[in-house]
Amino acid sequence: SHPIIFDTDPGVDDAQAIAIALRHPDIELLGLTTTYGNVDVETATHNALLLAQLAGREIPVAQGAAAPLVKARHPPPAHIHGTNGLGDIALPEVKGKAEARSAPQFIVDTVNARPGEVTLVAVGPVGNLAAALQLDPGITTRVKRVVIMGGSIREGGNVTPVAEANMFNDPDAAARVLTAGWPLTLVGLDVTHRCVLTESHMVRIQAGQGALGEVLAGSYAFYRDFYREFLGIDGCCPHDSCALAWLLVPELFTTARGHLTVATSGDAEGQTLFAPEGRGFIEARWSRTPLVEVCLGVDGEAVSDWIAATLS
Ligand code: BDR
Ligand code: CA
Repeated sequence: SHPIIFDTDPGVDDAQAIAIALRHPDIELLGLTTTYGNVDVETATHNALLLAQLAGREIPVAQGAAAPLVKARHPPPAHIHGTNGLGDIALPEVKGKAEARSAPQFIVDTVNARPGEVTLVAVGPVGNLAAALQLDPGITTRVKRVVIMGGSIREGGNVTPVAEANMFNDPDAAARVLTAGWPLTLVGLDVTHRCVLTESHMVRIQAGQGALGEVLAGSYAFYRDFYREFLGIDGCCPHDSCALAWLLVPELFTTARGHLTVATSGDAEGQTLFAPEGRGFIEARWSRTPLVEVCLGVDGEAVSDWIAATLS
């Protein structure tokens, strides 16, 4: 089983992924850590608590970054996820409370308590991971792996022509996290754009998940309308679930190794820059950044079916 901390900004597709993290028998969910991104951080925390409650699970929720490390915050994309992050559907009351500890402290404590065992799965802007590195740089050697939904190697961006949203929302944090030298896998738009969660998948999920299924289905409807109107896709990309799919069914993905960083200024701000291993670039900086793994290909249909099957 995989002990994970799930760092998230729920968010409709985050909610789907959180449901997988709560339900999959091979995941041991140690905690949810929250960040601003799709919504402000208080709303993200509220939604994380609610989703765990609806699944009948008592999972620690630790609140984290309210803004990027360095730059000003971009306004949350209410037209994609709704003002409440869950498609503006009516939500039940939340009973639980967040941890007293901050998200970065929770990450450091949890990783250090089980050296070599914990995987960090981050599916929002990565400020909490950057802050955790600042608190204790030694976690780079004690974490099992870091899996990040974000970036784009060949696919282009979804916020600017070159930048994916999670990278764009905190490029300075992303640059630190991607070059920190820990075992890292990037699950970006190259694969998430190949996966489409359709209405028929959602019918199965709604039927399988009780009260949680109602929230997943209600928020899906709002998110799907955005995809239809702006992207002409019938269904929606389950970006954040792909990070968990990579962890649990890696055989559905193809990957490459190389050096990775993020542009932190100018028109390319938030663009992931990938130099495949072994290419002798003249600028030495590239070969000095640590090697990471990036996803390049996927059996998208199989991943979407895996999501629906996990939640049916
Ligand atoms: C990422 O951006 C967010 O809006 C989604 O939740 C996902 O994490 C996709 O670019
Ligand atoms: Ca997200």
